[in-house]
Amino acid sequence: MNKAASVWWQAGTIYQIYPRSFQDSNGDGIGDLKGIVGRLPYLRQLGVDAIWISPIFPSPMADFGYDISDYIDIHPLFGTLDDFDALLEAAHESGLKVILDLVPNHTSDEHPWFVGSRSSRDNPKRDWYIWRDPKPDGSAPTNWLSEFGGSAWQYDEATGQYYYHAFLDRQPDLNWRNPDVRDAIYEVMRFWMRRGVDGFRVDVIWHLIKDDQFRDNPANPNYVAGRPPHETLVTLYSADRPETQDVVAEMRQVVDEFEDRVLIGEVYLPIDRLVAYYGENLGGAHLPFNFALLSAPWHAPDIADLIARYEAALPLGAWPNWVLGNHDRPRVATRVGEAQSRVAAMLLLTLRGTPTLYYGDEIGMKQVPIAPDQVQDPFEKNVPGIGVGRDGCRTPMQWASETHAGFTSGVPWLPLGDDYRENNAVALAVDPQSILTLYVKLIALRKRTPELVFGSYDPMETQEAVLAYRRTYDDQSVLIALNFTGEPASLHVGAGEVLVSTELDREGENVPGPLELRGNEGVIVRLR
Ligand code: NOJ
Repeated sequence: MNKAASVWWQAGTIYQIYPRSFQDSNGDGIGDLKGIVGRLPYLRQLGVDAIWISPIFPSPMADFGYDISDYIDIHPLFGTLDDFDALLEAAHESGLKVILDLVPNHTSDEHPWFVGSRSSRDNPKRDWYIWRDPKPDGSAPTNWLSEFGGSAWQYDEATGQYYYHAFLDRQPDLNWRNPDVRDAIYEVMRFWMRRGVDGFRVDVIWHLIKDDQFRDNPANPNYVAGRPPHETLVTLYSADRPETQDVVAEMRQVVDEFEDRVLIGEVYLPIDRLVAYYGENLGGAHLPFNFALLSAPWHAPDIADLIARYEAALPLGAWPNWVLGNHDRPRVATRVGEAQSRVAAMLLLTLRGTPTLYYGDEIGMKQVPIAPDQVQDPFEKNVPGIGVGRDGCRTPMQWASETHAGFTSGVPWLPLGDDYRENNAVALAVDPQSILTLYVKLIALRKRTPELVFGSYDPMETQEAVLAYRRTYDDQSVLIALNFTGEPASLHVGAGEVLVSTELDREGENVPGPLELRGNEGVIVRLR
């Protein structure tokens, strides 16, 4: 990639805000848009380039906003359209792009489209959703399973048919084979882009089209006992259908009607299928989210292998990306441990491709234990006790040591992490060796070091403990060495100078050739 030819979503770092938990401005215990505006200076200091905000639209909140009842307004909990415009303007003035969450696969059951659709078989909106007759014995039309437990089909007494819902029964799937549905959602996209939003993260983009013959999904031979029940089947016929690519290409065309916007797709698929979402001739998503790091064993050879497989699978000219955390997966600091979370930060911000950070990971927020009577997440409520709950990674941002961590003056909607008095943004910002300071330095270094953004990715021979690679651009190279273990390690890297260590205490150190790493240490070296 040539620096001169690059665009903001290639060179920049994306920061995901889960709006319910970022900053409350009115004391109701739930974050809101004015709260985000108040925290823009923090984001500017952190150095990120774009914010992606999880859904802020009217919704009965059965799935905390991923069940939308009006695509072109703001939920009063978060504010008003005027508040949104003010946020957009303030963000843009701060040099931050704003990416919205588009949830086109399903609506809320309270969306007027669905209310019409379920009201009678001949309602004009009937075919906007996926309605099927029962099997002769009255059972569901296929064996497809909801990701949140149980059958994906809900019988509707009034009209004697089932409707399909890949998630909650309160989230009926739209029928993307219907051109009117497509046009309606494309108009939604235009509505927000005309207002000035810089792009979309598209929820479950690989789910949009289902099998036209409604064939049963096969059993999953690799199902692991104790995993969520929907994994007992392979989603062969209910997701990632070939025709999905046509829809993604159409969405991309809509995005391309406006200048300089980005289309990001949420795709949980193996690497070979994931990269299909760049589309034919790269006419699909600019960035199909790469979640490989969210589930990879935290072991240098495994990570080296997955980077190599991803790099090899990318279509020519496709821009890579990496994600370390999101609102659906356990916090990275808990997944890999506190010591390794610094190594993870360095990995994310030195790999080739756009990095996406999840709010709070930059201050090392951990998965917060949620007592049974505190559970909010519908996934945990439907499939309890096997560890699928997502509340623990959605707890309020830990801003300061004061009551409720400065998140709210009211009662927070989810409990705070009990470490917030020490681990908070204010305390960590003034600590020259904190993880927050590390994030700030890494983001700034990435910004001023073209090798880290545009350079090639050249792996060095992987050791058991250390993952090492060079990034080279314009004949200049930096070397990244990451010790995935608690034991010291050494490797030969060539002569250079330390730019940053995860411990933030080696800047400027001369590297004669061999490089010594402490346990859990990562180092970036400018090679001579
Ligand atoms: C993916 C979202 O990230 C998740 O939070 C949501 O529950 C499902 N899609 C359904 O919209």
